Amino acid sequence: MASTNGPDTPVVEANSAGDVPDTGMRALQDRIRQQELLAELGVTALQGATLEQLLNETVRLAAKGLNADFCKVLEHIPTSNRFLVRAGVGWDKGVVGSATVGADLDSPAGFALRTGKSVISNHLENEERFRTSELLKQHGVRRAMNVILQGDGKPFGVLEVDSRSDDEFLEHDLAFLQGVANILGMAIERERHERKLNAALEKHKFLLAEMNHRVKNSLSIVTSMLNLQARDIANPELTGYLNEAANRIAAVAKFHDQLSYGSDFERMDIGQYVTSICKNFDENVAHCEMVIDVVDGMFVATDRAVAVAMIVNELITNAAKYAYKNNVGGKVHIKVVKDSPAAFTLSVRDEGVGVASGFDILESKGLGMRIVKAFAKQLDAKVAVQSHDPGIEFVISIPLDAAPS
Ligand SMILES: Nc1ncnc2c1ncn2[C@@H]1O[C@H](COP(=O)(O)OP(=O)(O)OP(=O)(O)O)[C@@H](O)[C@H]1O
Ligand SMILES: [Mg+2]
Repeated sequence: MASTNGPDTPVVEANSAGDVPDTGMRALQDRIRQQELLAELGVTALQGATLEQLLNETVRLAAKGLNADFCKVLEHIPTSNRFLVRAGVGWDKGVVGSATVGADLDSPAGFALRTGKSVISNHLENEERFRTSELLKQHGVRRAMNVILQGDGKPFGVLEVDSRSDDEFLEHDLAFLQGVANILGMAIERERHERKLNAALEKHKFLLAEMNHRVKNSLSIVTSMLNLQARDIANPELTGYLNEAANRIAAVAKFHDQLSYGSDFERMDIGQYVTSICKNFDENVAHCEMVIDVVDGMFVATDRAVAVAMIVNELITNAAKYAYKNNVGGKVHIKVVKDSPAAFTLSVRDEGVGVASGFDILESKGLGMRIVKAFAKQLDAKVAVQSHDPGIEFVISIPLDAAPS
């Protein structure tokens, strides 16, 4: 008679007398429960649990699946050739995280580690192949199973279940324990790779920051040399040009220094970057009040961010120099607004004297405007100038990413 129970209930054929064999049914239910626990552990591993969480979950599920009193993950410490009880259930206080056991071939765990073979010891008191560790004796353990925890690198250690009862571990139980160890082994290996990757990333970040620092230092040397030369020249006009060149190079140095690296270190939050540029302006704009309004969360490549900073630098310098000359105070509004998922607008507006009608500022031959246009071109951006009453506004629409070449 076939079972008509729900899908979760195992279907077991009755014998000719119509009885369902009890032990067979129990064994089958045990196997199904073990499969469920394996699936549960697999899901935990896939969900990106931390190694610590996964170790704890492994020992809990392995002990549960085998009705065992104890389970532990033994991490092999090559320098001392011992195992550290890295995670465990059932053990007295102070064991997990501290206790160690020998990893020599005479111990079941050591044997499993060195040979890669699983070990079942159902009668530890009569065991002649291995000695029983003090830890097991102290806890009254009578039987044990050990399987190796192997990733694709060197073995991490051994997974062991122990029990006080005089029941027996079977080959099926060993297969379950091996399944648990395989899942944990893969997760350990993944964690090893992630750690290596993170270390490489940190090094990369460090080198990048170091490189920017050196760029800044080299540019500072160039600035000093230009300033020195400016001082030596008897021609005031030339001195002025050299000083301006020195100021611009100093600005580039500062923009490099202000590149800061978050998790995505090749891209900058452009709103935050522009804010930091505006807040660290030199004393030439001290008479201006910067009104900053930026949207965070838009990221651009660092070289594009530096180009944006160059444009901001020229426009703010001009506002301070022409809109509010002779140290008349005034506001300079700097905005970074999101246009679309792929572009943003930078605007710099003053409330100053403005420009005479008919004067096309963008066609001015000044170096400042040429720098603005050159970097806008590099950014594939559009520049527009709007006259206000009072003042003027530069509106620059900039794609977040460079066009594919
Ligand atoms: N915010 C402003 N308000 C009024 N006039 C401006 C403003 N910005 C620029 N101008 C005018 O536009 C001209 C061109 O500016 P540009 O930055 O190209 O050159 P510059 O500032 O004169 O020289 P440089 O930038 O090489 O020091 C300026 O000389 C100035 O007359
Ligand atoms: Mg200028």
